[in-house]
Amino acid sequence: MRGMLSPSVMCADLLNLFDEIKKLDNLGVEYLHIDFMDNKFVPNITFDTNMIKSFKKPMKNIKRDIHIMAFEPEQYFDKMEIGEGDMVSVHFEACDDPHKVLADIKSRGADPCIAISPDTPVEVVNDFLDEVYAVLLMTVYPGFAGQPMAPKSMERLSQLKEIVDKSGKDVLIEVDGHVSWEHCGQMRQNGADIFVAGSSSVYGKDYPLDEAVAKFYELVK
Ligand code: DX5
Ligand code: ZN
Repeated sequence: MRGMLSPSVMCADLLNLFDEIKKLDNLGVEYLHIDFMDNKFVPNITFDTNMIKSFKKPMKNIKRDIHIMAFEPEQYFDKMEIGEGDMVSVHFEACDDPHKVLADIKSRGADPCIAISPDTPVEVVNDFLDEVYAVLLMTVYPGFAGQPMAPKSMERLSQLKEIVDKSGKDVLIEVDGHVSWEHCGQMRQNGADIFVAGSSSVYGKDYPLDEAVAKFYELVK
């Protein structure tokens, strides 16, 4: 299976979001990465739940990849209209009972994913491989676009791949943060399946969007 792309919409042209989503949909991109931040778990705010709900309107084939950087993420699921086709990541560090939250996502017909920040040992995912669609490995400290890669991210990715392979479970690996032109090929080799592309690649202004998407798929095939 080819590497899948999830462009980070917080890095897109925020004054033309409808067109941005249509463009990505028409380019056959698998996911739209939508960051939700509560200004508590991370010191930043991006889109509100209403916006995240409305992102579904222009979508034909592209799917929502919702990354919830918030404490008690389950409180937002209704307002975001989480459902069939959505991939939803919640942070291990932000949930009192991650198992309960992941089960809630699954009960809505969406694909549950556990996200881990750079200081969280990769081994924690062992507890969740039976109940997740994917693991979201943060390769920057969550909260802002445009950051450098967190230390040891590449080694952590290989370690995570080893853990998933050893488990025999069919769990995907998503990488998020500084997924740059320079690093995405190596990330693919180290085990990444889904790539959150933001300011350091697809939204980096080096190429028009369609060329950037084609180049990215070439690098992660
Ligand atoms: C950071 C967000 C990422 C970010 C990626 O907390 O989760 O999605 O927007 O952007 P770059 O590629 O600039 O790190
Ligand atoms: Zn994200």
